[in-house]
This record gives sequence, structure tokens and C-alpha cells, in this order.
Amino acid sequence: MIGTKKPTQLLKDEHQAVLQKLTALEKVFGRLDEKEAISAELKELTSFFKTEFWVHFTKEEEALFPEIETFLFLPRDAGPLGVMLMEHEDLRKTNDVIQKATAEYLAGSSGEATKKTLREQGSHFINVLRDHINKEDNILFMMADMHLSQQQIDKVAKLFLDIEGGHKAEGAKENPVIEALRARRSCKDFLGTPVPTEILTELVDVARYSPSGANKNTWRFIIVTERQDLNRLSEIARTCSWLASAQAAIAVIVDPASTRYWLEDCSVAAYAIWLAGEARGLGVAWAAMHQSDNSEESARRQKCVRDVLGLPEALYTPMVLGLGYRKSQPPDKKRPNLEDIIAWGKYPG
Ligand SMILES: Cc1cc2nc3c(=O)[nH]c(=O)nc-3n(C[C@H](O)[C@H](O)[C@H](O)COP(=O)(O)O)c2cc1C
Repeated sequence: MIGTKKPTQLLKDEHQAVLQKLTALEKVFGRLDEKEAISAELKELTSFFKTEFWVHFTKEEEALFPEIETFLFLPRDAGPLGVMLMEHEDLRKTNDVIQKATAEYLAGSSGEATKKTLREQGSHFINVLRDHINKEDNILFMMADMHLSQQQIDKVAKLFLDIEGGHKAEGAKENPVIEALRARRSCKDFLGTPVPTEILTELVDVARYSPSGANKNTWRFIIVTERQDLNRLSEIARTCSWLASAQAAIAVIVDPASTRYWLEDCSVAAYAIWLAGEARGLGVAWAAMHQSDNSEESARRQKCVRDVLGLPEALYTPMVLGLGYRKSQPPDKKRPNLEDIIAWGKYPG
């Protein structure tokens, strides 16, 4: 046998853990008027029933039940197996309602209606699940233990490992976009190695795919590689001085009369260039040429940038991105805690 415990015993152990969670959930649902005191526990418990819990159902539905169906001749749409599957469906639906109501409750809209939903649906979920566990442990699993052969038990045990492994892999699976978003940093300290023309061209090429208001795509991009021009850009403001060590810069340019979303469009495109630059192994940073709260300073910077790039009066450059190969890795930067910036449904009260 694979592992030391029978698959049914593993499921029973998980049932015991679930029963403990249900007892805790029942207590929490009984104290919905004490929101501050119960929020953390409610969050943890509903999070368990939102994600981890369903691996258990998957093991039953995709590994154990098919063996029971085939070898015990129990049909899926009737009898004990049919009832278990119907209860799974009921629990899934009720859980969806509980998850939504919990999110509303935690977000601050803890009106009486939300609490009523949580109490009623919570009570249904808890009762059905307790009863369901009792039936599985004492009827279905007992039948499986009596009738499944060692070969089938091994097959189910192996499938359990695959399902658990797949679940873990799913959670841990690296996604290049997500990874890039987490890893992105400003780089203001560059090596003297020039950036190949093809890479610079590619960065502008991918910026073309950025979203823009009404799909107007009115941005334009100027790539600067002349040392003298990079130096002049670096002198525009103290906060841009690092441009002097950059090997290239990409100015994002727009005619503000062409779209009401000129600042948003340029910002999105600049971010695309930034991420694409990092994907090509470059360090990137943002030099602000526009400050929403200081039109005088913005006009001064615009004049300087216009002189360097030879731009007509009507065009505006909200930002310039400096690029090059990183000389050093920036120190860790503190990011806000997720719970401080996230809310569901309503602004937290
Ligand atoms: C709109 C905007 C304007 C910025 N302006 C400048 C700037 O003028 N000079 C600069 O050195 N960094 C500038 N930055 C970079 C931020 O200071 C930097 O992104 C922030 O401190 C977070 O650090 P990180 O990029 O390493 O994550 C700007 C960033 C944004 C989004």
C-alpha cells in the first residue's frame, strides 16, 4: 500500500479536522454582534472553507468515488453515492453564499440582513456537513473498506497524492507576469554597457499594446541614447540626476488635446515599458516631468525636455524612463500590508 494509512482513514482524519473547524465556525456565527472580536477568526475559518477544504472533495469525487462506483456497482445518480454528491453540490452553493456574506460583513456592511444570511446559511452549512461526514464515515467508507481490493486502494492512494501535489503546485506555480510585478524595482545605478538598439525598439513595440482610453493610442515615444542628451535630461531636476548614468531613456510623449486620458494612457504605457525592460534584464526608473499639483514646475520641466528632444509646443512629456543594466541591486522596499489597503464591497468603516 502507498503510505501507511488507508485512503478512507486519511479522509476520516480530515473529517475530524473539519469537524473542529465547524465547531469554531458555529461559535463565531453565534457572536456576529461582536465584530471586532471575531473578525480575525471568521476570516481564517472562511478562508479554509474557501480554498483548502475543497481538495478533500476533489479527492472523494475524483479518486475514491469512481472506484466505489465501478466496483461496488453504486450509481452516481442514486443511492448513497448520489446522495453524497448532491450534498457536495449543496455545500458548495451554500459556501458561495457564506463567502459573499462574510466579505460584506468584514467590509463593514454588517447590516442585519448580512448577519441573518450568515446565521441561516452558516447553520445550514454546518448541519449538512456534520451529517454528511457522519454518513461518509459510517456508511460509505465502511462499504469501501469492505469491498475495495488492495489494488484499488493503492490506486486511490496514488490519486490522492497526485491531487494534493497538483493543489500545492497550483498554489506555488510561478507565473512570470505575477513574478515580474512583485520583483519590479526602480534602478538608478547603471553599468556603462550600452543597451542594444533591438531591445530599445522592442520596448516601444510592446508599449503599442498598452490599453488607452477609447483606444486612441495617441502616445509617441522618443528613444534617447546620446550621452549629451541624457546628461541634459538628468539636469532637469535633482530627482532625475541618476539619468546621467543611464544608458538610454525613453520619453513618453502625448498631445494632451488628443485625449482626455493623456496622463493615464502615458502612465500605463510607461509601466509596460518598465516591465518589458526588466523582462529583458534591464534596470529602469521613472523621471517625472509632470507634477499634478505644481503647474509652474511642470511647465519648467516641459520647456527643458522640449529643448532636448526638439518637441513642438503642443506636445507634452509626462515622464521619461531611464534604462540600463543594473550596477547594484536596490535594497528591500517596504510595501503596504495587504489588509491595510484591501476592502471588499464597501470602504471599511
Ligand atoms: C508617477 C511617478 C513619478 C516618479 N517620479 C520619480 C522621479 O522623478 N525620480 C525618481 O527618482 N523616481 C521617481 N519615481 C519612482 C518612485 O520613487 C518609486 O517607484 C517608488 O519609490 C517605489 O520604489 P520602487 O520603484 O523601487 O518599487 C516615480 C514613480 C512614479 C510612479
